[in-house]
Amino acid sequence: MRSKLVAGNWKMHGDFVKNAALLGELVTVDTSVAGMVVIPPFPYLAQCRELLGARGVGIGAQDVSEHPSGAYTGEVSASMLGDVGCEYVLVGHSERRSIHGESDKVVARKAVAACAGELVPIICVGESLEERERGETRSVVERQLSTVLSVAGLDVLRKSVVAYEPVWAIGTGRTATPEQAQEVHAFIRGILAARDEGCAASIGILYGGSVKASNAADLFAMPDVDGGLVGGASLVAREFLEIHRAAVMAVR
Ligand code: PGA
Repeated sequence: MRSKLVAGNWKMHGDFVKNAALLGELVTVDTSVAGMVVIPPFPYLAQCRELLGARGVGIGAQDVSEHPSGAYTGEVSASMLGDVGCEYVLVGHSERRSIHGESDKVVARKAVAACAGELVPIICVGESLEERERGETRSVVERQLSTVLSVAGLDVLRKSVVAYEPVWAIGTGRTATPEQAQEVHAFIRGILAARDEGCAASIGILYGGSVKASNAADLFAMPDVDGGLVGGASLVAREFLEIHRAAVMAVR
């Protein structure tokens, strides 16, 4: 059976004082039934590792270089992230794709680099509002995933987590309904099943886009929704802990 996971994408928020207060409330969470990961900006990874200890809540970065090392000013490699205790890394978040122009191929190469550095890539896919309205949700998600399959291959996918994040639901307060999420999650699992049944059955597919304590239980009750990638609500300890609790209850 797949396990449930909630990951908190802090985006470009936080400072030492606020982080310490938030982490102080998260540190005691029981992750034996459902996992929890925090994904702070790079400068706070070491602080998270120190305050969370070596077990329990996992740590992820928001981006990784597609290169292992070299003259790439401003970039951070997968092995460097591993050095500060990272276990996960987001690749292809829609803000990286749209603001920083990351193509499907770059995203796929970042997933390869993450795996090579022994990090678990959380590969984000999802359509914009215009694409959904044009009826292109499936074709967009299929294109994004197929590029990962062709560039990175099944071995990388087997070690990854996928996050379906409809762009129109990110930071907007407008969540996909559980049925809308389930439909796309089942579609994603179907694409993978056509290549490898085992990978499709075991891969975690998180939903992201305005997940809150009030909607998490209904989303996580869907058979193909294995947890959430949470932005805004992950900055509020009580909200994030309640979302984690919803993941625990969905397992029980
Ligand atoms: P949100 O962000 O929960 O604030 O909508 C989700 C994300 O961007 O990962």
